[in-house]
Amino acid sequence: MPNVIIRPGWFIPEKLVTPENVYRNRRRFLREMGLGTFGLVAGVVAGCSKHETLAVEAAPSSGSTNAAASSGKGYPYPRNPEFNPKVRISDEEYATGYNNFYEFSTTKTRVRQLVGKFVTSPWEIEIGGLVEKPMKVSVEQLVAMMPIEERVYRFRCVEAWSMVVPWTGFPMSKLLEKIVPKPEAKFVKFTTFMRPDQAPGFAVLPEYPWPYTEGLRMDEAMNPLTLVTTGLYGKPLPKQNGAPIRMVVPWKYGYKSIKSIVKMELVTQQPKTLWESLAPDEYPFESNVNPNVPHPRWSQATERVVDTGNRVNTQLYNGYGAYVAKLYSKA
Ligand code: MTE
Repeated sequence: MPNVIIRPGWFIPEKLVTPENVYRNRRRFLREMGLGTFGLVAGVVAGCSKHETLAVEAAPSSGSTNAAASSGKGYPYPRNPEFNPKVRISDEEYATGYNNFYEFSTTKTRVRQLVGKFVTSPWEIEIGGLVEKPMKVSVEQLVAMMPIEERVYRFRCVEAWSMVVPWTGFPMSKLLEKIVPKPEAKFVKFTTFMRPDQAPGFAVLPEYPWPYTEGLRMDEAMNPLTLVTTGLYGKPLPKQNGAPIRMVVPWKYGYKSIKSIVKMELVTQQPKTLWESLAPDEYPFESNVNPNVPHPRWSQATERVVDTGNRVNTQLYNGYGAYVAKLYSKA
């Protein structure tokens, strides 16, 4: 397989993987944004435009929110005061209009235009592998078993942009308690849906090792920060943000926060993830936010706050060292 095709989309010249008309529209949008392709992130880091307008097209009338009325029950959930930092929450329009979801598009502002056919209800999730009590449940059943709350987390993408988002969900540790891991379980492997008829991105990137997979060590999955997420901004997750259920792992780069999960599996071996399979030196399994470890092609010292365009310093573990530094102290 030629390198240029299998590398992550934020790396390759987009014209190689994107239909000509989409590519042209994207160039226009990026000019308006004052951005560039991900391949130009280093340039963005060096000279970020101060003010960027979210030039997304209007959301389609087919609706980009999860249609499952039952999963809308109870929203908004109470905010956990422990995760309510005194920082500016990002504009919801950006969080739901500027998305990485390669199953639909490599163009962030196109994703929500393309989710219309994606069926997120009913949705079954299989939770098993090396556990005493495996389950196959609907998202509604799962949510009904769990203590749901809202948490405001910083979210930092490997591409050096960030947001602050109020997520709704429950700690992964609570789920692990219920399924009772066997002692030999060392990792959790997560898998996203694979339905090319509902998501056009699969056909655009046929060389990618779909479905999207991710993983965490057991101690990372058990960490109190690790959130199984069903909503944002006091509402169920919109499709473009990974409806109906995704992970949010706030001390790691955003690609670890896998969307639209169909399977969680406890395993002994470190699972091969999609990005790691494509470019292990650029998107390794661990991928903790670290301003001192540059990406091979750009600095990670600072980040662009997506909705304001301000550039701020990146914090080690995205500022969550008090919760997670101990996990890596032996490394
Ligand atoms: N999950 C799936 N299934 N597919 C993806 O392309 N992109 C990841 C992550 N989870 C991705 C995914 C990346 S690179 C980021 S930065 C975040 O989702 C973006 O989440 P957001 O669109 O809600 O901001």
